[in-house]
Amino acid sequence: MNKRLINIVLLGAPGCGKGTQAAFIKEKYDLEHVSTGALYREEMASGSAIGIEAKRHIDNGHLCPDEMTLDILSHHIQSHDEVKGFILDGVPRTIQQANMMEGKGYDHIIPVDLVINLEIPEEIITERLEKRAKELNRTDDTPEVIRQRIIHYNNLTKPLVAYYEERNILKNVNGAQTLENVFKDILAEKEAEIASLKIKIDSEDKDRQIAITEVNLSKDKI
Ligand code: AP5
Ligand code: MG
Repeated sequence: MNKRLINIVLLGAPGCGKGTQAAFIKEKYDLEHVSTGALYREEMASGSAIGIEAKRHIDNGHLCPDEMTLDILSHHIQSHDEVKGFILDGVPRTIQQANMMEGKGYDHIIPVDLVINLEIPEEIITERLEKRAKELNRTDDTPEVIRQRIIHYNNLTKPLVAYYEERNILKNVNGAQTLENVFKDILAEKEAEIASLKIKIDSEDKDRQIAITEVNLSKDKI
């Protein structure tokens, strides 16, 4: 990832809008959007061994194993070496995954520069996902599985808020607003982060400096 500009994690409960907002960020900044949920759904559709294993967990509303998740993520990242950065949608989802991404007990470091935590009340989650269930054909959007996904989010994923707060890279955004207002708030956090990254790495890494300048220029055209 030599030309990396910025890796952004979108953190939040099921249905908080990670996928929706990732698409907006991708469009504006030309970063690669990677959703581990979507990667698993591709594997499931292809009937691969990973897909068969993932389906057992996903259809019951459980998280997939950390090692398997990091493997599909790093494989995707390594095959997109030319991009300026990644929007990591729904990963990490456990403290163990976050540790692995920092290289603790895992071979590939996946650096995280900014974490956007989309906050949303539980009743809105259920409302949105039940509505989506009628539009899309996701096998995990049934009321019972949604309940299970929320339980795992509270127990296993929510602790990442404190984890990234400690590292000083977490920004909370109210995910219960209109799509446009959520995006506006994300942009405000991201602009501030780009500015501070620019200062931080000014003398360290020429490649990243060039990539940042490119993104700062390209954002003006949209
Ligand atoms: P994943 O696909 O990531 O599902 P999720 O986290 O449960 O989240 P969703 O994709 O359901 O919601 P979202 O936050 O993307 O919201 P969206 O934008 O779609 O993961 C699926 C499964 O894969 C997991 O349960 C797990 O088993 C496995 N997995 C994935 N990653 C893993 C990992 N790292 N480790 C282990 N296992 C992993 O929005 C939802 C709906 O609301 C849409 O219909 C949208 O149109 C609507 N909407 C969005 N924003 C708004 C708004 N502001 N106002 C009104 N409606 C809105
Ligand atoms: Mg999603």
